[in-house]
Amino acid sequence: MSDTSSFRALVVSKDGENLSYAIQNLTEADLPPGDTVVDVSYSTLNYKDALVLKNLGRLVKSFPHVPGIDFAGTVRHSESAILTPGQKVILTGWRVGETRFGGYAERARVPAEWLVPLPEGLSLEGAMAVGTAGFTAMLALMALERHGVLPESGDLLVTGAAGGVGSMAVAMAARLGYRVIAATGRTEESDYLRSLGATAIMPRAELIAAAGKPLQSERFAGAVDAVGGGVLAGILPQIRYGGAVAACGLAGGSELHTTVIPFLLRGVSLLGIDSVMQPRAARIAAWERIATTLPAELITRMTRQVTLEDLPRLADEILAGHVRGRIVVDVKKQKGAS
Ligand SMILES: NC(=O)c1ccc[n+]([C@@H]2O[C@H](COP(=O)([O-])OP(=O)(O)OC[C@H]3O[C@@H](n4cnc5c(N)ncnc54)[C@H](OP(=O)(O)O)[C@@H]3O)[C@@H](O)[C@H]2O)c1
Repeated sequence: MSDTSSFRALVVSKDGENLSYAIQNLTEADLPPGDTVVDVSYSTLNYKDALVLKNLGRLVKSFPHVPGIDFAGTVRHSESAILTPGQKVILTGWRVGETRFGGYAERARVPAEWLVPLPEGLSLEGAMAVGTAGFTAMLALMALERHGVLPESGDLLVTGAAGGVGSMAVAMAARLGYRVIAATGRTEESDYLRSLGATAIMPRAELIAAAGKPLQSERFAGAVDAVGGGVLAGILPQIRYGGAVAACGLAGGSELHTTVIPFLLRGVSLLGIDSVMQPRAARIAAWERIATTLPAELITRMTRQVTLEDLPRLADEILAGHVRGRIVVDVKKQKGAS
């Protein structure tokens, strides 16, 4: 179906090494292939979006490019039998916003199988406040549960706690009944983290100090780690016998210098978490779990709303580790408009 009407998008262009950003009018002819076009209402700013916006990490193969790894909106038209026009849907991952145009536009085209129906209890805006960050946090918590790390097992550590994945993990784990220890480099965010449900705050430096030691006292039943690097190396020696760490992120580094001793002497497991290529059934299950775990009021407390025009500036802030919680992009709102 061809629709020649235009819509707004944040387009990143590259001239030599210089990047420029502009709000441009596109049509569906500009969009990548797929059987479904979605009217996008909201997107998000994740750490990975910032990498894309600044052309770091070799994520974008060609320019001009429309970033946005997540979006939520309404099916405009679809050739697939699994969706109907007017249905509310969520997209995260699948390398949308990296290898193909993403959610920083009023319309997006993708294969229908990539879209998850909006679960009951979540609004489109709420879904993007959760976004890839919250989806990843829930995948991590579900992986720990499958491993037998349950609220009664002992303390659960969350690292990068003031960031997107971390805030979501703290809030959801606390609602699920865990005693949550929030590790952060920003202890000035302690009140915020306690308001999300953290029981105790741990300075990030304390974890890094434990890196390289084969074993320490058994402090945590499990951990959700959004940081990697020295922080992950400092967690492993402190996990209790039979416990596990769900490794989600690399905000503090992609290298891991450690010993195998916690694996061999304490049966500790390192669980890898990938949100990008998760199969559809697992996505639907995680989103339904999110909708029943996170109250709307708590989502609001973790979120601030911005426009497409704000994103290039905010990308610098998130890369510098200065953003608290989650950023929702109201894609249709124009800067200055009320
Ligand atoms: N596996 C997946 O599928 C998946 C999905 C989503 C995200 N991720 C990854 O998860 C990580 C977090 O993503 P996000 O969107 O939550 O980002 P974010 O909002 O920027 O949060 C990252 C947090 O990590 C901590 N941090 C930042 N720089 C650091 C440094 N140099 N050393 C140590 N800690 C640092 C900060 O927490 P404090 O201020 O509390 O210390 C920061 O708030 C990223 O690496 C991202 O790529 C992976």
